[in-house]
Amino acid sequence: MRIVLLGAPGSGKGTQGQKLVERYGIPQVSTGDLLRAAVGEGSALGREAKGFMDAGQLVPDSVVLGMIRERLARPDAAQGYILDGFPRNLAQAEALDEMLTETGQPLDLALLIDVDITSLKQRLLGRLTCSDCSTVFNTYTSPPRRPGICDQCGGTLIHRADDNEATIDKRLGVYEAQTKPLIEYYAGDNRLRRIAGIGDIDTIFAAITADIDARLSQQTAR
Ligand code: AP5
Repeated sequence: MRIVLLGAPGSGKGTQGQKLVERYGIPQVSTGDLLRAAVGEGSALGREAKGFMDAGQLVPDSVVLGMIRERLARPDAAQGYILDGFPRNLAQAEALDEMLTETGQPLDLALLIDVDITSLKQRLLGRLTCSDCSTVFNTYTSPPRRPGICDQCGGTLIHRADDNEATIDKRLGVYEAQTKPLIEYYAGDNRLRRIAGIGDIDTIFAAITADIDARLSQQTAR
C-alpha cells in the first residue's frame, strides 16, 4: 500500500502516520523528519536545507527528490509506505508518479486531512515533540502527564524551531500557494479521499483506515 498523507502544517499527518505504521506495518516516510535529521547531523544536505526550513520555505525539489528516491529504495519500503509531507508541490507529485510508474507500483491513495486555520495555528503553537522517541504531544489538546517529560520514554519534550507565529504564517502561505493544488491533481484521477481532521484523534484514524481498508479490499477482489 502506497499512501500520501496530504494536509496543511498541523493537520495531523505525523500523528495519524504514527498510528498507521502500527496498524499496517509499513514505514512512515516524513520528509520533514528526514530533513530535520540531516540538519541535526550537520550533513551537507542538512546545511543546505536549514535556511529554507527556518524561513518556512520549501527545500529545493532537487534536494528532496534525491532524498526520497534513496529512502523509498530501502528494503523496508518494498511492501509500501506512508508518505508524510511529500509531495509538497506539483513538480514533486509528478516526479513521484514517474518514479512509481518506473517500478510498476502506483500510488494507491492520497488522504487529505482537512483542518481550519484557527485550529492549525493553535495546534502548532502547542506542539511538543520528544527529543528521544519523537512522540508528539500538545500543550492544549494532548498534554504530557508531567510537564516537559515524555510519557512514553521519559525523554525531554522540545518545541520545534519553526513552530513560532511568524514561521507558521509563512508555512501556511506556502501550503496555500504550492501544496493545495495537489488536491485537484489527485482528485482528477480519483486517488483523493477527504477526511475531516477536527475532533478526536482515534475517530479521525477510524475514518482514515476505513478508506484504506476499502481500497485494500478492492485490490484483493481484483
Ligand atoms: P514538516 O515537518 O513536513 O512540517 P509540516 O507539513 O509543516 O507539518 P507538521 O509536521 O507541522 O504537521 P503535521 O500535519 O504532521 O501535524 P502533527 O501530527 O504533528 O516540514 C517542515 C519543513 O521541512 C517545511 O516547512 C519545509 O521547509 C521542509 N520540507 C518538508 N517536506 C518537504 C518537501 N516535501 N519539500 C520541500 N520542503 C520540505 O500535529 C500537530 C499538533 O496537533 C500536535 O501537537 C498534535 O498532538 C496535535 N493534533 C494532531 N491531531 C489532533 C487532533 N485531531 N485534535 C487535536 N490536536 C491534534
